[in-house]
Amino acid sequence: MWPALVIPTFLFLSCFSVGSAQIPGSVTDGNDRYPPFWDQINGDIAEFPVQDNKIIIDIWKYKDRLQIYKILIRESNKYFVQFGKNDTGNVLWGLTLFYGKLYKTGRFVKPSNSSVCAYEGEFPGCISIDSGWGGFNFYVLTIYFLAAIESGFLRNISQEIVFLSPEEHRSYFCYSIEECRASFPQAMDAAKKFYQYLQSRKILSIVGDTPVYNTDKDTAILYMWDAHQALIDIGKPMFNDIFQYSSATERDFTFNFLLAIEFCAAAIYRSFFESSAEFLVGFPHRPLTDEDDPILPSDLNIREKALMSSVTLISNINQMTGGSFLTVWKKAMNVSKITQFLGRLIINNLLLIPNT
Ligand SMILES: *[C@@H]1O[C@H](CO)[C@@H](O)[C@H](O)[C@H]1NC(C)=O
Ligand SMILES: *[C@@H]1O[C@H](CO)[C@@H](O)[C@H](O)[C@H]1NC(C)=O
Ligand SMILES: *[C@@H]1O[C@H](CO)[C@@H](O)[C@H](O)[C@H]1NC(C)=O
Ligand SMILES: *[C@@H]1O[C@H](CO)[C@@H](O)[C@H](O)[C@H]1NC(C)=O
Repeated sequence: MWPALVIPTFLFLSCFSVGSAQIPGSVTDGNDRYPPFWDQINGDIAEFPVQDNKIIIDIWKYKDRLQIYKILIRESNKYFVQFGKNDTGNVLWGLTLFYGKLYKTGRFVKPSNSSVCAYEGEFPGCISIDSGWGGFNFYVLTIYFLAAIESGFLRNISQEIVFLSPEEHRSYFCYSIEECRASFPQAMDAAKKFYQYLQSRKILSIVGDTPVYNTDKDTAILYMWDAHQALIDIGKPMFNDIFQYSSATERDFTFNFLLAIEFCAAAIYRSFFESSAEFLVGFPHRPLTDEDDPILPSDLNIREKALMSSVTLISNINQMTGGSFLTVWKKAMNVSKITQFLGRLIINNLLLIPNT
């Protein structure tokens, strides 16, 4: 009985946060939507130093992670040309823009000293090994990257990849294909499935000089989210042991947000450039503190408040229903493309059209 009532209840409650106001003048135009320093790196694996025939990557440096994102975007662009001009239809933009957002909003700092690894608007920045968001991002990015190599998706790479591995928390992370495969085989396979799907695509037509592949956007986005979830699931249990947050409020927000992302993923939420940039406008511009009003800190703008109250609402309903909300939502989203479409509509209503 309960489960059947969950979604109607949610829709009812969400009416309170959905007004008829128009999308407020979006502050999302221009190049500041790209991750910081995006144009200053070239997305070429040859940029990494090579020692003893090994490619050396400092995975706790902002720039090195950014370089990897750009490599993955560049190498996969050709499968997505029909979904947006200037390569904005690549489904990996969601993860890439989120990475930039985390850095810009100061979420890679050392929680015990926020001036370590702060965003200072200059290269090179670092990512604190104690940062909760830095840890989640570690798993997401490294496994996406190593799976791309393992599956032969980045065909140019002939050398072995080595991540510089700090002693700190050594056993919680994996620093090579062998280590990551041994520790997280399911997540590696989930990420590989995404690349194998792309590799299996065929050229459908040529428009101008550009080949267009027969990529199905729902399938590509589904595999992208499936891999993302597998990687978040790795990070979650580690969090109590090593990851830290600047505050309990920020930690709770992190987990509520990641839960909300599961709802988005089930609805095959579009992870193209434009939709992701729009979604992220509401991501709070600074880590939350315990002094903040737990509901709505006053210096957050209207979109940030909408995002925060939505993720809290989703998490509360899910808790009230003992997790049935997510289960029922996933089932409903799995019925047809129409329910997925409606699911995305609900999410957009919650996030993008806040009440004034
Ligand atoms: C791989 O090589 C091709 C041409 O040989 C080049 O266009 C492409 O940028 C290279 N990819 C990377 C990641 O270096
Ligand atoms: C095209 O994309 C690049 C980044 O990949 C960006 O720097 C550039 O501004 C974009 N051009 C337009 C016209 O949006
Ligand atoms: C925080 O880190 C900065 C830079 O590393 C250092 O100068 C400062 O003394 C540290 N502050 C504390 C309270 O540890
Ligand atoms: C979605 O439906 C398909 C069959 O249509 C089923 O194989 C799959 O397990 C379902 N997935 C979920 C998450 O319920």
